[in-house]
Amino acid sequence: MLKTENIKLAIIGAGRWGMNHVKTAASLLPHENIVVFDSNPETEQKIRQISDKIQYSSLPFFQHSNVDDFNAVIIATPAETHFEIAKKCMLAGKNVLVEKPITLVPEEAEELLNLSLSLNLKLMVGHVLLFHPAVLRIKDGIEKDEIGTLQYIYSNRLNLGAIRSEENALWSFAPHDISVIQYLVGDNPIEVQANGGAFVQEGIEDSTLTFLSYPNNVKAHIFVSWLHPFKEQRMVIIGDKGMYVFEDSLKTEKLKFYKKGFKEVDGVIEKFDADYEVINFEETMPLAEEQKHFYLSILNNTTPRTDGKHALEVLEILDKATKKLKAE
Ligand SMILES: NC(=O)c1ccc[n+]([C@@H]2O[C@H](COP(=O)([O-])OP(=O)(O)OC[C@H]3O[C@@H](n4cnc5c(N)ncnc54)[C@H](O)[C@@H]3O)[C@@H](O)[C@H]2O)c1
Repeated sequence: MLKTENIKLAIIGAGRWGMNHVKTAASLLPHENIVVFDSNPETEQKIRQISDKIQYSSLPFFQHSNVDDFNAVIIATPAETHFEIAKKCMLAGKNVLVEKPITLVPEEAEELLNLSLSLNLKLMVGHVLLFHPAVLRIKDGIEKDEIGTLQYIYSNRLNLGAIRSEENALWSFAPHDISVIQYLVGDNPIEVQANGGAFVQEGIEDSTLTFLSYPNNVKAHIFVSWLHPFKEQRMVIIGDKGMYVFEDSLKTEKLKFYKKGFKEVDGVIEKFDADYEVINFEETMPLAEEQKHFYLSILNNTTPRTDGKHALEVLEILDKATKKLKAE
């Protein structure tokens, strides 16, 4: 049970994505408990359309008169500001949910992780797919041996999407895919390879392909692009007894289970190839689940699923992939 009255929330940054955090918080918490900080004064009008009880300030968080009152901060400013804002918040004793990517370099993420541990504060990163009911169902299925031994995972996250000039497609999209793969495999890769191409803007990759090799012969790849003729969000998870296909961009039949593969019978390798079954799951809102998880971790003193350690591991993979991309 979420005792929402005990959460006093500051949301720092309410742009394209941060506004979703504001709307979600407004659906979960008393509006008087939410204050939005955004340096762009035009934000106020958008906040007013959501609620007249949510306070707004264009001043930096630390200039607010009642900073001590807040026990939770959501940071949804541009990535390059995450480290400084999150560090200041934690040094002021705040539990923090930072949007992805947590920071720009692993050393900064490590510093935040160490602060969270030494100050006993919650540090969580907005890897929202780890709150998607389909991903949780896949994880549960893997744990229950539904697809046998995990062998290969791939993710396509493709669209003719919004291009960014401050980060490439890898940093824009792949944190989500890496976080899911890390969660499903439950280990860290022993090798990271990456390749990509910059076509629209010099030096900013529009398309990247990242390969991950995990212990126990588990392999994965991630193909992300904003230079692609149609939208596709497809993740395929292959085990020796079956396979899942998760397509979040579909309206129906988002998650399928295929009993397909190969098995050895009397020394002969035989194919098994049954039709797929649709797996139904409760259509909960991942961002609402993410925020609830953050609030509950504070109220119940539990470790968030996407804690600082998970965030650092994802960032280390992004960092290794970037070094491989740039070394091409
Ligand atoms: N989890 C997801 O699925 C997801 C999706 C999109 C974006 N994001 C992440 O969310 C973050 C924000 O992305 P966006 O697309 O909303 O960016 P944006 O540029 O649309 O919004 C950023 C907002 O932060 C404000 N801001 C900047 N510096 C500030 C400061 N120091 N104090 C207060 N306000 C400040 C700006 O005025 C702006 O309104 C990024 O880290 C991005 O990667 C996450």
